[in-house]
Amino acid sequence: MLEQARRAARAALGAWRRAAGARHVRHNAPHVTRAGLAADLARLGIAPGDTLFVHSSLKSLGYVEGGALAVIAALQDAVGPQGTLLLPAYYLPGGTLRAACAMPDYVFDPRRHGTHMGRLPEALLASAGVRRSLHPTHSVCAWGRHAADLTEAHHRAPSIFGMGSPWQRFIGCEQAKVLGLGISMGPVTFYHALEDAMGDAFPVPVWEDRTALLACRDHAGRRWEVPVRPFDQAVARRRIDHPGRGDLRDYFHREFDAAGLRVNGQVGDAAAWWIPAQGFYDHLRQLASNNVTIYASAAQLAARPIGQA
Ligand SMILES: CC(C)(COP(=O)(O)OP(=O)(O)OC[C@H]1O[C@@H](n2cnc3c(N)ncnc32)[C@H](O)[C@@H]1OP(=O)(O)O)[C@@H](O)C(=O)NCCC(=O)NCCS
Repeated sequence: MLEQARRAARAALGAWRRAAGARHVRHNAPHVTRAGLAADLARLGIAPGDTLFVHSSLKSLGYVEGGALAVIAALQDAVGPQGTLLLPAYYLPGGTLRAACAMPDYVFDPRRHGTHMGRLPEALLASAGVRRSLHPTHSVCAWGRHAADLTEAHHRAPSIFGMGSPWQRFIGCEQAKVLGLGISMGPVTFYHALEDAMGDAFPVPVWEDRTALLACRDHAGRRWEVPVRPFDQAVARRRIDHPGRGDLRDYFHREFDAAGLRVNGQVGDAAAWWIPAQGFYDHLRQLASNNVTIYASAAQLAARPIGQA
């Protein structure tokens, strides 16, 4: 009884916070519409038939009339009926892979578990005709032409981001692009695809030794045990998405600009960018061969000037 009341109070507080946040953006940011966003995306170079892996910040776009669903609709307008959208729908209980692995009774259930990745993924997840991969920590959701193929094998993949995963399949799609809406080069999961593909040949030992098996339940109620290998915590603290690694984010931003791979523009009020997936991957591999990774020290960055062939 008490627990129920607590849950209801938490939900009410959450709803009030959301409404207050939206009011603040509505009064303080420029207003943008689905049509305006779709036009900006086209100007940025997003084209019909594209397959997009999108990392986003809703509030960076300005005040979007129609909210997150209007942004999803604008993305769908930009890629058209032959296009595909792929968004992170990760559910990470405890906030890290290691914490999730330490929960003995945790069973991921796509019907019950939402996502911690922001409003746009939440909106896509709640939309009709959307597929969601079955994965205890790094589930993704997808809409469009390649949605089924990108999501269907995640729970059978030997690693989160490697062979059989949505990332590895995404790289193989024509016109595959990683799109950032109002985000830096920090929160970009794509980097991990190279780590899983290279395994022990990757120049940084990014994982802990043990691989845990975490449980998932699929839509038919069947239970799957999925291998998850946590990141080494000390190494993860040096990573590009850590608040203290502005130097790495700046390096990668300028490096991909210098390589002619990053296309920059504006969508709504947000700075936006995209990088073609295959070029992104190949360039990451080339950088890794020079010891420049998303974990590089300042000395390693200094040893390889930006734009060096
Ligand atoms: C963390 C992160 C999601 C925060 O961005 P954000 O814009 O604050 O959060 P969301 O996208 O969830 O949007 C919610 C915000 O939009 C605001 N909002 C609500 N309605 C809105 C509307 N109609 N138009 C614009 N903004 C609106 C909300 O008020 C809220 O802001 P607040 O928290 O200041 O109140 C973003 O910085 C990020 O890192 N995105 C990438 C996440 C990711 O893909 N991670 C994987 C990496 S491995």
